[in-house]
Amino acid sequence: MAGVLEIRDLHKRFDTHHVIKGFTLDVAEQTLSCLVGPNGAGKTTLMDLISGRLKPSEGSVRFYGDEMTGLSENEIARRGIGRKFQVPAVFRNLTVRDNLQVAYSRQVNPFINMFTFADPGMQRRLDEVCNQVGLQDRLQIEAGLLSHGETQWLEIGMVLMQEPRLLLLDEPIAGMTEVEIEKTARLLKGIRRSATLIVVEHDMGFVREIADVVTVMHMGTLLAQGRIDEIEADKRVRDVYLGTEEEIV
Ligand SMILES: Nc1ncnc2c1ncn2[C@@H]1O[C@H](COP(=O)(O)OP(=O)(O)O)[C@@H](O)[C@H]1O
Ligand SMILES: [Mg+2]
Repeated sequence: MAGVLEIRDLHKRFDTHHVIKGFTLDVAEQTLSCLVGPNGAGKTTLMDLISGRLKPSEGSVRFYGDEMTGLSENEIARRGIGRKFQVPAVFRNLTVRDNLQVAYSRQVNPFINMFTFADPGMQRRLDEVCNQVGLQDRLQIEAGLLSHGETQWLEIGMVLMQEPRLLLLDEPIAGMTEVEIEKTARLLKGIRRSATLIVVEHDMGFVREIADVVTVMHMGTLLAQGRIDEIEADKRVRDVYLGTEEEIV
């Protein structure tokens, strides 16, 4: 399988705080990786470095062979790395359809969206994405009226409108009901058929259900990587969770 992402000896310092300390990782195409690790391990910072929201202090991030660290956040998104944040960023007073259209055209200007509405590529993508995220019946609803789970799916849909080759999701099931979590698991496994995903997640039941590969981060470095059963049996992994509020099993 081709390498999607090659991270080499990545470092991030905030003043004196050295948060990412020589992190190295390879991600293969069409895999769903779950990134786990105790609070403060550096998971969100790593997502910020991959998506260009933050610039690394040192090191390299290659995406399909191309170096990303010198590029702007917009350019990295244009190259095919899509990012969904922990906190939803939908336009609450626009409809679900308008939110998806805005995401496609990357323009909030409503006049520009009137033109893209006639764009057959946009319409095709909108149909595909709203089927994928299961919001076909909610297109005319204002996004502010959606449930928490639906808002998360809309936001995933907004990222999908841009047809990312790599999707980064930070804690996508936080606050969801069991039924919503089940649906999200199916949704992510569906996306994996056409893209590569890295999902930051705490819930080990969810990780067990969706992950091809589990990557464990600890104090800004890669602690372990493998199948979920290997990770759960790994003594070093169990040790870093000891004494924290979180659990690995
Ligand atoms: N802008 C920043 N300035 C200083 N320290 C930061 C900043 N952002 C994150 N950190 C620190 O980096 C560490 C890792 O944070 P984060 O990446 O959010 O961890 P995680 O997502 O694994 O819980 C934490 O100790 C956090 O306080
Ligand atoms: Mg985080």
